[in-house]
Amino acid sequence: MAWMSVLNIAIFRNTKFHCAWQQAKREELQMININDRVHCAAALSKITTAEKAAEIIQDGMNLGMSGFTPSGYPKALPLALAERGKKEPFKVNVWTVLAGPEIDTEMVNAGIVGNRMPYQTDKTCRNAINNGQIKYVDAHISHFNQLARFGFLPERRDVDVAIIEACAIKDLGKGKIGIIPTTSLGGSCGYVQSAKKVIIEVNVTQPVELEGMHDCYVPLDPPYRKIIPIEKPEDLIGTPYIPCDLDKVAAIVPCDIPDKPSKLSAVDDDARAMGQNLVDFFKAEVKAGRLPKNLLPLQSGVGSVANAVINGLVNSDFEDLTVFTEVIQDGMFDLIDAGKLRVASGASLTPSAPYMEKLYKNFDKYKKHLILRPQEISNNPEVLRRLGVIAMNTAIECDIYGNINSSHICGTNIMNGIGGSGDFARNGYLTVFFTNSMAKGGKISSVVPFCSHIDSTEHDVDIIVSERGVADLRGLSPKERAPIIIDKIANPKYQPLLKDYFERACVACHNSQTPHILEEAFSFHERLLKTGTMEVK
Ligand code: COA
Repeated sequence: MAWMSVLNIAIFRNTKFHCAWQQAKREELQMININDRVHCAAALSKITTAEKAAEIIQDGMNLGMSGFTPSGYPKALPLALAERGKKEPFKVNVWTVLAGPEIDTEMVNAGIVGNRMPYQTDKTCRNAINNGQIKYVDAHISHFNQLARFGFLPERRDVDVAIIEACAIKDLGKGKIGIIPTTSLGGSCGYVQSAKKVIIEVNVTQPVELEGMHDCYVPLDPPYRKIIPIEKPEDLIGTPYIPCDLDKVAAIVPCDIPDKPSKLSAVDDDARAMGQNLVDFFKAEVKAGRLPKNLLPLQSGVGSVANAVINGLVNSDFEDLTVFTEVIQDGMFDLIDAGKLRVASGASLTPSAPYMEKLYKNFDKYKKHLILRPQEISNNPEVLRRLGVIAMNTAIECDIYGNINSSHICGTNIMNGIGGSGDFARNGYLTVFFTNSMAKGGKISSVVPFCSHIDSTEHDVDIIVSERGVADLRGLSPKERAPIIIDKIANPKYQPLLKDYFERACVACHNSQTPHILEEAFSFHERLLKTGTMEVK
């Protein structure tokens, strides 16, 4: 049968299962031999097809799914649920941080997602949220598992079924197994601990060499919570597997669908300039004795801008760098290649296609530098504050006083969500936000009089970097910050409008603490909505 399994994998890899023929073939996927990855004789009888496992899921259930970015998330079961959803009406609540198209496109298109938490980046899912089809709770990532455990989520219920992608299953004896996760850890440890039932998807496209890269740990809840004993980014505090009672495992499903590589824009001139501005700022901080020579653990947010900025460090003189972050994107692999990175700890590996290939071809080289942690730990305020993390995230817009909007367009439509940016920004040793001075070819100024939505407040923001310069806001009052943000960050095209607003606001408010003319505070956004640009024509 082994050769048939290999053949099946080759035939079905990267395919979608929409027609009846494909559906019939999908049933045959049970022929994918995962026996060599399930190292527990008692668990073998639980192996079944995704379609059979999908029958376990009932209307209204909370599904805690592995995955963080389009990495390490279940794929076969979501596709089977989407197929079932086309035939019978039901809704489930999906809890995962960002997910691949099998969840956030296929399940959403099938109309079976009721409630979505705590972060997404998918266009289909975003549209469904913005048109009211899906209820979206955009929560701080570090909080999310505990919100469920505390009973703070709708109907006060925790996870009903945890659906976890694994590269292998270990026998721990005494009726316990160890689930070896794949390319992310996200909320999995907490979901498995809380869930009444667990479904494991063993993905044969995920290398078994992933074993040993994870540090699984679930904090106790107050009043029993203990200090999380991480003092250096490389410290390990948990187990390399997720422990689980075999009794809880309702099904084990074979899967041969690979992760989707993340899509990152090429590093452009603006991003290069932001990277250089950051490096120059770090050099000055080291010279002034405010940062050590190898800096402090770096956190870098999601998306093209954050990735490009990290890339700026590759050509710098900084060495022996450490990373304590959420997503491990391409720039971190470049830092490893350049011999500049000691360790990168994150909740997920999120490489683009060429970097994914590079990772899989050189696993041993990269593995010794990489640690995957649960989101409760990668983003944990206690740990971030202790390590002195340099938090670096991207803004959609900032205002003249230093508030940051990372999540909404014109105050109403969600882009992705706050993600981990708030966790890191609030608890960083130094909190940096990046933004291009303009968006959409200059039709939008990224500096506005007042943010149309605020994710990180002026109280949490130390430094703003654009391609034009660095605004160092530390220790400045709002009226001191405004001229600096307008001068260093805003684009010359919008500077006169912003200066004019600030000066008139100071007069109108008699120089009060944070001057605003309320009826004009959103005038840039109003103009954009009415005329398609923030420019005054
Ligand atoms: N108004 C309207 N649209 C804007 C905008 C603005 N002020 N600024 C940026 N955009 C648009 C861009 O044009 C682009 O649109 P497109 O997808 O249609 O091309 C999109 O937002 C993404 O912007 P981009 O410049 O490509 O940046 P990015 O990929 O680095 O993403 C964020 C930027 C803010 C969307 C992203 O970092 C994010 O979701 N952040 C919040 C969560 C977070 O920080 N998590 C990290 C914690 S580890």
